[in-house]
Amino acid sequence: MVNNHSSSQVPLLAASGMSKSFGGIKAVDNAEIQVATGSITGLIGPNGAGKTTLFNLLSNFIRPDKGKVVFDGEPIHHLPSYQIAQQGLVRTFQVARALSKLSVLENMLLAAQKQTGENFWQLQFQPHVVAKEEKQLEQQALAILESVGLAHKADDYAGGLSGGQRKLLEMGRALMTNPKLILLDEPAAGVNPRLIDEICDRIVQWNRKGMTFLIIEHNMDVIMSLCDRVWVLAEGRNLADGVPEEIQRNPKVLEAYLGK
Ligand SMILES: Nc1ncnc2c1ncn2[C@@H]1O[C@H](COP(=O)(O)OP(=O)(O)OP(=O)(O)O)[C@@H](O)[C@H]1O
Ligand SMILES: [Mg+2]
Repeated sequence: MVNNHSSSQVPLLAASGMSKSFGGIKAVDNAEIQVATGSITGLIGPNGAGKTTLFNLLSNFIRPDKGKVVFDGEPIHHLPSYQIAQQGLVRTFQVARALSKLSVLENMLLAAQKQTGENFWQLQFQPHVVAKEEKQLEQQALAILESVGLAHKADDYAGGLSGGQRKLLEMGRALMTNPKLILLDEPAAGVNPRLIDEICDRIVQWNRKGMTFLIIEHNMDVIMSLCDRVWVLAEGRNLADGVPEEIQRNPKVLEAYLGK
């Protein structure tokens, strides 16, 4: 999970010159961002600043007008998003996308990559291999559910989860792909305060195990307590980046939030 780059050297993710317009609106305008290996990096900015769009560009859910994304030493901007996920860059959505008619465990299993069971020929000729792999995946899913505090919900419909539990399931689904970097879009939004603390704790625990995170969040307590470094976008452009204490005191950042 942890790769060889030390955090002071080559960043795990480096994007530059990212741009995307929708009609006349420059949603992301020549933006850059870097995420150090092993870090929890924050991405903040007022509503409509382009944060979610930047996530969509990094993961190629939306094709950038221009820009370069290097992940783990390789350019990835030309790859389709499923291949980017296979390389280890996964993202969650601002609105959680769990399938409500499936159980929590089934949602986890669906998120796993390279399920041999999906291969028709292997199923015909090597059913024992498929069965063994399914068992392993289920064990992995249960272990991850345990680590995000949802083990007791494994057999419940995902549709019955609270907002905060859905965010935890989103994180669990991302973890099922054995990623190197997880992009979390507003993990604390619409979540009750007690569960926000729990989500933060789970993020910290996974980070201590070596997982790198890039987090969009409006809750400043969450950003300031979790992040090693924070990037600020406003009107699609980079406004500032630095350690949380610097960002909190930066007059340009305060002005962007308070409005001119
Ligand atoms: N698919 C789209 N089509 C047209 N305009 C879009 C689209 N997606 C985003 N935009 C516009 O691009 C700008 C940036 O939106 P984006 O969702 O990236 O902001 P954000 O920083 O994530 O905001 P929030 O904090 O409210 O989630 C906004 O003006 C938005 O209306
Ligand atoms: Mg957004």
